[in-house]
Amino acid sequence: MFKKLVDAIDRQAWLDSLGDAIQQSIGKAFQSSGRIGKETQNLLNGTWLGHALHPALSDVPIGAWTTSIFLDMVENGDHSLAKASDRAILLGLLASVPASLSGLTDWQHLIDKPKRVGLMHGLLNLSSTALYSLSLVLRSQGHRGAGKLLSTVGYATVIASSYLGGELVMEYHSGVNWVGTLEEPKDFKPVIEESKLEDNTPVCVTVDSVPLMLVRWQGNIYALANTCPHLGGPLCEGEFDSGIITCPWHGSKFDVTDGSIIDGPTAYPAKRFQTRISNGQVEVRLAEI
Ligand code: FES
Repeated sequence: MFKKLVDAIDRQAWLDSLGDAIQQSIGKAFQSSGRIGKETQNLLNGTWLGHALHPALSDVPIGAWTTSIFLDMVENGDHSLAKASDRAILLGLLASVPASLSGLTDWQHLIDKPKRVGLMHGLLNLSSTALYSLSLVLRSQGHRGAGKLLSTVGYATVIASSYLGGELVMEYHSGVNWVGTLEEPKDFKPVIEESKLEDNTPVCVTVDSVPLMLVRWQGNIYALANTCPHLGGPLCEGEFDSGIITCPWHGSKFDVTDGSIIDGPTAYPAKRFQTRISNGQVEVRLAEI
């Protein structure tokens, strides 16, 4: 049933035009702010943390509003419990601001079905925030019953939105490390003749079905998993300059010597491989062993 709901969302053509307009506005806002905009994106993406930030931030409003609905059920006229419930709603509203900003920053790079599902996730969150805000106003004016009704509808909206958020992560891998866990190759394996590698020119090769980016720089040969950990862009098609490879899709930058992040939006480093030359062949193996 829920899958059918997601498919129905995917068929809503109006989400595309609205999504395009919002994504372009977000991109322009960050770009026009120069380096500050870039640093803000890195902050909201979780580049500094080594983990997507949005899932952690979104737990706070969900937890606060879950607390509130429980307190509403048990308060039974107790003034202090009712007050605590109202404060939990306020906490959720305050926490929804950074959660929304980080979610929008992640979502701006999604396309097709994930873009449409993500936009519906955001619209539902916006609706629940409006419902909770109105609920808080009504509660403060003494209309507790109406306030409770609105916050209950708001909570149901949050749960529906959370399902879509989970779908974005588990089905479409938004916010996860696209390289994942690699186990092979544990031993060195040949991937290309050394003579075919030119200085400062990335090439694509494959070892044990794992696509790699190989580059010769300052006399050494470096290898990274070709799949960008952000959303799977092909690193070997990116620009290489002074030891740094830039993903052609959204501009994440990685140090080819160790795979570390130079710039976001990725929150995860590139997977590094060890290289050596043997009988004129470049050989690679996983660097972690
Ligand atoms: S796929 Fe987004 S930066 Fe590489």
